[in-house]
Amino acid sequence: MTGFVIAVDGPAASGKGTVSSMLGRLYDYPVLDTGLLYRAVGVAVQSAGGNLDDAEQAAKAAAALNLNDLEDPALRTREAGECASRVAVHGPVRQALLDFQRRFAAREPGAVIDGRDIGTVIAPDAPAKLFVTATPQVRAHRRWLQLHKQDAAITYDDVLADIRVRDERDSGRAASPLVRADDAVLLDTSEMTIDQAADAARRIVEAARGRWEQSQPG
Ligand code: CDP
Repeated sequence: MTGFVIAVDGPAASGKGTVSSMLGRLYDYPVLDTGLLYRAVGVAVQSAGGNLDDAEQAAKAAAALNLNDLEDPALRTREAGECASRVAVHGPVRQALLDFQRRFAAREPGAVIDGRDIGTVIAPDAPAKLFVTATPQVRAHRRWLQLHKQDAAITYDDVLADIRVRDERDSGRAASPLVRADDAVLLDTSEMTIDQAADAARRIVEAARGRWEQSQPG
């Protein structure tokens, strides 16, 4: 029997993180925010004075990453998000992070993984897949509320511009672009509160879990 993997994908600030933590608590599963891996690679390259657009340099940083140390608050900044999306276009970077993510996905009795390519590349056989989205304006507002606490000078327009650049880069890249898996359930949280989004996600995953349990031998 393989574990019950919950794949949560979607664009920046769509609510994936909140939904994933809630699902992790609900089932008592570990949660992996794969954005932190790309953020850590981007920050490592940047702080070593390297070039984010150089695939080889970024892949070396990815291979050298201490994957057990993703708690650094420096990974949560606006700059780190931008660095992450620049190194995430490189196929060799994605390759270097693949094993770690696949091993996480293989954990028993299950795991929640959030990112951009979980349902398509990392765990294509995941029995539960969600694609969480919201309009760019709603996402920018949510992200602005978070970032504004770190940096009072940041404006909503700055954040909206960042989000548009990142959406385009993430969706337009050749290596594992951000795309909804055919079998992922779309959850548009634009008009939802956090509680409503969490509740909708829970219902989708519970339905998938019912089907998955029936398909298990014995
Ligand atoms: O929190 P937010 O949605 O802003 O970003 P994140 O999930 O931390 O991801 C930061 C960046 O890493 C994204 O814009 C993607 O370019 C990249 N990423 C990726 O390519 N694949 C993933 N599985 C996760 C993140």
